[in-house]
Amino acid sequence: MGSELNHDLIIILDFGSQYTQLIARRIRALGVYCKIFPYNVSVDKLQALNPSGLIFSGGPASVYDEDAPRLEGNYRDFFSCPILGICYGFQLLARQFGGVVEPSTNREYGHARLRVIHPASPLFKGLPPELDVWLSHGDYVTKIPDGFQPIAETDGALNAFENLSTRIFGVQFHPEVSHTPMGIEILRNFILNICDVRGDWTPDSIIHEQVGLIQEQVKGGKVVCALSGGVDSTVAAAIVHEAIGDRQSCIFVNTGLLKDGEFESTCGIYERQMSLNLRGVDAQSRFLHTLKGVIDPEEKRKRIGRLFIEVFEEEAARIGHVDFLVQGTLYPDVIESVSVKGGPSSVIKSHHNVGGLPDTMRLELVEPLRELFKDEVRNLGRELKVPEVILTRHPFPGPGQAVRIIGEVTPEALAIIREADRVFEEELRLAGLYDSIWQAFPVLLPISTVGVMGDFRTYEKVIALRAVTSVDGMTADWARIPHDVLARVSTRMVSEIKGINRVVYDISSKPPSTIEWE
Ligand code: XMP
Repeated sequence: MGSELNHDLIIILDFGSQYTQLIARRIRALGVYCKIFPYNVSVDKLQALNPSGLIFSGGPASVYDEDAPRLEGNYRDFFSCPILGICYGFQLLARQFGGVVEPSTNREYGHARLRVIHPASPLFKGLPPELDVWLSHGDYVTKIPDGFQPIAETDGALNAFENLSTRIFGVQFHPEVSHTPMGIEILRNFILNICDVRGDWTPDSIIHEQVGLIQEQVKGGKVVCALSGGVDSTVAAAIVHEAIGDRQSCIFVNTGLLKDGEFESTCGIYERQMSLNLRGVDAQSRFLHTLKGVIDPEEKRKRIGRLFIEVFEEEAARIGHVDFLVQGTLYPDVIESVSVKGGPSSVIKSHHNVGGLPDTMRLELVEPLRELFKDEVRNLGRELKVPEVILTRHPFPGPGQAVRIIGEVTPEALAIIREADRVFEEELRLAGLYDSIWQAFPVLLPISTVGVMGDFRTYEKVIALRAVTSVDGMTADWARIPHDVLARVSTRMVSEIKGINRVVYDISSKPPSTIEWE
């Protein structure tokens, strides 16, 4: 057993693959704790964690490139646990142990049929002799290292090997992607059988452990938490509540930029269903005031961010001396990204988050979700009885409706956008589409167009509907909402919302567009 937490640990070394986080999420889904490190992390650091298994990820480089990412040495000399190489990791192992890797003009990309040629291999235990796999590589292992045995192949090439005595395995294909339907079984064989770890990374064990850690960290101190109504801050508050009860004060600010009725309904959930020690603050008029006359989106963000901190600090001062601040930081926010030549450049995430609270408060952070992916946070929330309506809510930006009103934020514009948002959400829920969509919202445009209602000419504003599918918000595709649903939304908006006579649907993807319009 290893790791700083009391769980068996699998370590994934990242060589710059776009799927590295996916490997981690698959392993977590098996109920096993795992962590991602850049390939060039020091061996000492990893040894101190005493992993039960190592996985080398794929990556964009070629093992024979001069500046290809390499390991500090032969990992078999440093670790006795099983090792699995995937794609680039497979080629790296081949080369390290004396095999040959060569480039080819014939790139294997996409689906392929894999034949298991050594059915007794523990990696393919319980699997059929042929299976569909997904591949993306240009280099091939053309000579297998001495002592290794080929265990699977495609028409084009050797695709998996093993060395049972040293417990080193490699696969050229990607078992972590959904296009390899039985990939999870291969990972299960590696993790649960070959590495022989316990599947003890479960929501109740995580909660139990975090509750202990929070109690140890906070001792008799006082804690403050900024709630946004979203999944992360709510689940973080729920765990801290489990640990220290009412010594946590939660502050929820009504900026007036939330969805229709959201402040009231969420306060009700926090107080009555979750028994949180809540301080709701009505700052609607202050936010409207600070946004008066502001058109520029970044200026809106700056002003909202500044005022949010001001309001939060005022409210926190009323609680008296506070020592700790709860933050809903997630694991993807803290994974160190690797920079590998030829790979996707390190992810640029805009940090315009209203929840970003002041360093000047000098509060020590309590971050109970720091080890978790978003889907794990939801599972934890379920275990903590956080209502489903919060756990399945679409992400909502910190500056709220202010960035969905193009131009000045006025009480009239806010009234329109809230109504339009309510109609859109209602119709998506009725059509059973809400949960399959990442985000859906209206945008109020600052232009008027001509229409006709009854016998009268109208000259009113336009609503643009935006709905996207996405996995993480970094890239997105416009949602293919059925036309009849769009038609209902449009008819209702034009007839129910005063000041709107036209509805359009945004069919741009990210990139090159962004999800929000501002
Ligand atoms: P974009 O518009 O950059 O949005 O494609 C990506 C994701 O981030 C959200 N978003 C924000 N979240 N404060 C936030 O907390 C912001 O200022 C902000 N701007 C965009 C957006 O809703 C989407 O989920």
